[in-house]
Amino acid sequence: MKMTREITLQVNGREEKVAVEDADTLLEVLRDRFKLWSVREGCGVGACGTCTVLLDGRPVSSCFLLAVRAAGREILTLEGLRDGKDLHPIQEAFVTQRALQCAYCTPGFVLSVKALLDEIPDPSDDEIREYLSGNLCRCAGYADILRAVRVAQVSSKLA
Ligand code: FES
Ligand code: FES
Repeated sequence: MKMTREITLQVNGREEKVAVEDADTLLEVLRDRFKLWSVREGCGVGACGTCTVLLDGRPVSSCFLLAVRAAGREILTLEGLRDGKDLHPIQEAFVTQRALQCAYCTPGFVLSVKALLDEIPDPSDDEIREYLSGNLCRCAGYADILRAVRVAQVSSKLA
């Protein structure tokens, strides 16, 4: 028997009530209910990082997390990162450094980079590689992504 319950999610700074079934993933709720299309499904089994969102500031695979487990916690998606019409400095860095090709993986990478720089403001190359190891890019632009992290790091310090 399917169980439905109402939970409260803090999505991009707004408190939202939503009825979910116990088996609904956070990915399904963010896309189907909140129409947050930046949250994308890749593997669907927690292995590629494409569906990454930040939960209380930490990257999680939203395809692999039940929505009920996110109740009352802060969720950040790419839509919540922008300041009005302006790109966030990390997004800007991905664009200027051409760190995207098809861009399917990009929202997940950008959010992981935000968490990285919030946690380790001056990471080594190895720390960047380790932190982003859960995000896969099929277009294999890893050198460009590393450069974008460095540019974003400088922009964050100037901001
Ligand atoms: S789609 Fe969630 S980790 Fe791959
Ligand atoms: S830019 Fe295409 S999958 Fe990463």
